[in-house]
Amino acid sequence: MSHNIHLIAAARPNFMKIAPLYHALNSQQWCKVSIIHTGQHYDANMSDDIFADLMLPEPHFHLGVGGGTHAEQVGKVMMAYEDICLNIERPDLLIVVGDVNSTAACAQVAAKLHIKVAHLEAGLRSGDRLMPEEINRLVTDAICDYLWTPSPDADENLKNEGHPDSRIIRVGNIMMDSYELLSAKIDDEHAPAKYGLENEDYGVVTLHRPSNVDDPEILKTIMDGLVENSQKIKLIFAVHPRTRKSLEQYNLWNELQNNKNLILIEPISYVPFMSLVKSAKLIITDSGGIQEETTYLDIPCLTLRDNTERPITITEGTNKLLKPGALSGYVDQILEGDWVHGTKPENWDGKTAIRIRDIIYGLFNN
Ligand code: UD1
Repeated sequence: MSHNIHLIAAARPNFMKIAPLYHALNSQQWCKVSIIHTGQHYDANMSDDIFADLMLPEPHFHLGVGGGTHAEQVGKVMMAYEDICLNIERPDLLIVVGDVNSTAACAQVAAKLHIKVAHLEAGLRSGDRLMPEEINRLVTDAICDYLWTPSPDADENLKNEGHPDSRIIRVGNIMMDSYELLSAKIDDEHAPAKYGLENEDYGVVTLHRPSNVDDPEILKTIMDGLVENSQKIKLIFAVHPRTRKSLEQYNLWNELQNNKNLILIEPISYVPFMSLVKSAKLIITDSGGIQEETTYLDIPCLTLRDNTERPITITEGTNKLLKPGALSGYVDQILEGDWVHGTKPENWDGKTAIRIRDIIYGLFNN
C-alpha cells in the first residue's frame, strides 16, 4: 500500500529543506510524495529558479496565497490547505519545515483534521517572541506528532517545554544535504567571476529581518556600516524584496547604487548564491540558514541580530552576533585573519534525508 505524504514549501528557506527529502522519498515504492507550494514567496528569483536548481518538479498543488499581513497569510494558507486535505487528497503524513507562517498554518490544519504531522527543524528557539518565526516555532512544535531536530540544543528546548522524549528525534541538519546534493554544480558555477569578483577578496551580504530593515534609522545605520566596510573589502549584497522596498521608501537606494564597492544584486538562486558564499572572505547577514551554511563551510559569519535560534553556530561554528555599530571592528579582525575556525556539528553530514526516510518507513510499518 502506498502512503500519501505532503511536503509544504512556502518561502525561499523552505525549498532547500524539502528538496533532499523529496528526492529521498520520491524514489520509494511505499509512498507517494506531493509538494504543496503555498505561494508565500512568488517571484521567480525567490521561488521557481530555486526549485529548478534543486531539481524539484512543479509543485503538485499551488495555493497561490502571496503576501499580506501575518493573519491574512496564515488564514489564506489554512483555508486553501484545508480544502486540499478535505476535498482533493488527504495525506497519511504531513511534513512541515522551518519556521515561516505557512509552516504553522499547515501544521494547524493537519492537527485539527487528525492527520499525523512532523516538524523538520523542530526545537529551535531564539527566546525572542518579537520575531514572528519564534511564534511559528512554538505553535508548530506544540501541535506536531513528530519533532525532528537538527542539534542537541533543540532537543533540550523541547524537553524543557515538556515534550515527551518519544516525540523527539535528532535527525541532523537537512540544509547540508542540499549543499552536498549540489556541491559539484556549485563548484562549476564560478559565480564570483560573473560579478567581476574573480581573484578578489569579497564579502556577501543578505538582510531581510523586519527588525533590521523596516525601521528607517536602523536601516540607515546598517547601510552606513556596509558603505564604510565596503572601502576595506568589496561587498556583494543580494537585496531581498522587503529590503529593497524599504531602501527605496527611505531614499537610501540611489546612494547605495553609486558605491562601486558595494555591488547590489537581485536575490539569486541557490547554486549561484552558494557559489558566492563558498569563496567569500566573510558574510554579513540576518538569515537563519546562512548562519548554518557558513558554519558548515568554515567561513566567518557576522549576524546582525541580538539573538539566534541556532546557538550551535556560535558554540561550535563560525557565527558571531553583532550590533550594527560593532560591524567595523569585526570586519577588521576577520581581514587580519583573527577569527576562530569552527567544527561541523554532529549529524550535519548530508545524510539527514535518508535518516528521515527510514524513520517514516518505520512509522508506516510498525
Ligand atoms: C519570510 C519568512 C522568514 C524567512 C523569509 C526568507 C515569515 C513570518 N517570514 O519573510 O522567516 O526568513 O521569508 O525570505 O514567514 N515579496 C516579494 N516577492 C516574493 C516574496 C516576498 O515581493 O517572492 C515581498 C512581499 O510582498 C512582502 C515582502 O517581500 O512585501 C516580505 O515577504 P514575506 O513573505 O511576507 O516575508 P519575508 O520577509 O520574505
